[in-house]
Amino acid sequence: MNSALSNEKDMKRTEIVLHSKFQIASVDPRIFGGFLEHMGRAIYQGVYDPESPHADADGCRSDVLDALRRLDMTSMRYPGGNFVSGYHWQDGIGAREKRPTVRELAWRSVETNQFGTDEYIHLCRKMGWMPMLTVNLGTGTPEEARNWVEYCNCPTGTRYADMRDSNGSRQPHAVKLWCLGNEMDGPWQIGHVPADQYAIRARQTGEMMKKVDASIELVAGGSCGINLKTYMDWDQEVLAQLGDLADYISLHRFVDNLNDDTPDYLAVTSAIDAQIEEMDAACRCAQARHRSAKRAYLCFDEWNVWYKNHETDGQGKVAPHLLEEVYNLEDALVVAGFLHSFVRHADVVKIANIAQIVNVLAPIHTRGDDMLIQSIFYPFEMFSKRRNGAALRLTVDGPSYEGATNGCVHYIDASAILDGNRLHVFLTNRAMDENAEVCVTIADKTVVSCESAEILTGPDAKAVNSPEDGETIAAKPFEAIDMKDGQAHCKIPALSFVAMTLNLG
Ligand code: AHR
Repeated sequence: MNSALSNEKDMKRTEIVLHSKFQIASVDPRIFGGFLEHMGRAIYQGVYDPESPHADADGCRSDVLDALRRLDMTSMRYPGGNFVSGYHWQDGIGAREKRPTVRELAWRSVETNQFGTDEYIHLCRKMGWMPMLTVNLGTGTPEEARNWVEYCNCPTGTRYADMRDSNGSRQPHAVKLWCLGNEMDGPWQIGHVPADQYAIRARQTGEMMKKVDASIELVAGGSCGINLKTYMDWDQEVLAQLGDLADYISLHRFVDNLNDDTPDYLAVTSAIDAQIEEMDAACRCAQARHRSAKRAYLCFDEWNVWYKNHETDGQGKVAPHLLEEVYNLEDALVVAGFLHSFVRHADVVKIANIAQIVNVLAPIHTRGDDMLIQSIFYPFEMFSKRRNGAALRLTVDGPSYEGATNGCVHYIDASAILDGNRLHVFLTNRAMDENAEVCVTIADKTVVSCESAEILTGPDAKAVNSPEDGETIAAKPFEAIDMKDGQAHCKIPALSFVAMTLNLG
């Protein structure tokens, strides 16, 4: 395997054919969202670190925020995660010196509450993120959730809105997206209950929240993993009870290469496609049962690679090192695979949040005053800057292989977005050691030129970025795209991801 083209090994050409009228749906920008949890060093020593020489006037790390700006994230889910199931939002507002320091049970850490609702909203405004709050359905009450909506969204004149005003924000925070709890189907979750009990709790809560602000959108908690015994039973029950109230249902997925089988790992995209299609089917079925014009859409509000680091015990510390996963090239290709899948399902996946953004399962890692960009940063950046437009159906005709658990897939994993006269094409070559020759045809148009293209690849599947060796895995300009007969032709090396913007005539 190599970072450049192999001279000997070329596989048979892959033909990708599109048509500008064969559109799936507009890509919802919210699929390029992130997730910021009070966990490990995500907030303290991550985005917020008043002691750091990089701290801005709000105590946020400017180096981290500058890197995050490159990802141009849209929605930002907060404050958890498992954390939220024991969190009381009123602990995190008001004068900082009066906020309680509490024992945090999800990650066995200590939470100082120095960062809370108002700091989060301020950060969202600074970064152009759409706020997305998760309410506590573990130890919280429907009333506590309803009060949070009032604190965030109501004009002054009543108790919680006035509290916001006295904390410095006269104007409402206008939080549109609210998640009804986190992973309540998981036995590890504080306050975990069976589906019917969750559904009652979530319905009561959601109804009260909507009475406070009818314009909010609600995300019901769906199955947090396909391996749980309750997968799909949970979702059917939740959708039966909440399908007419909730606008979205959540999906979570963390993938791994525990078998150390790179081809199969890279084929996991087909399992992600299947998970989306199964949840879509459940939503459609619930809609039919409700005989309703309204359906729930999919909110993939936690997704990423996670398997190498299992440190989840904070041992009673503030900002302990938890889940500081180191990402390699193959992980970055899998992250590209998630994004391919979301684009290909643009008609149903409306929100997605990579979990997470800094230090915990993250594309950015801080160490003291230094910061490292991890491999998974790049596919997100390469997609995100080409996200505007409508996802196109595409046919891939080319060589394929059989993954040990994920079945038969093409070596080339692909997705495409049409933005007026520009076509964004995303290609992953999953082969271990063969170049892939690819021809992109758009049936009703001609490809005139290439506006920009980048490639992400590296010396081998396990190569990582590190403070010592620097950025081995980083996007580089990709110039090897030829226009011939109105088509784009390129040869992409083994184990690489290419994003290109083509001009159409
Ligand atoms: O992202 C880390 C954890 O993963 C979240 O707290 C939880 O929701 C999920 O299991």
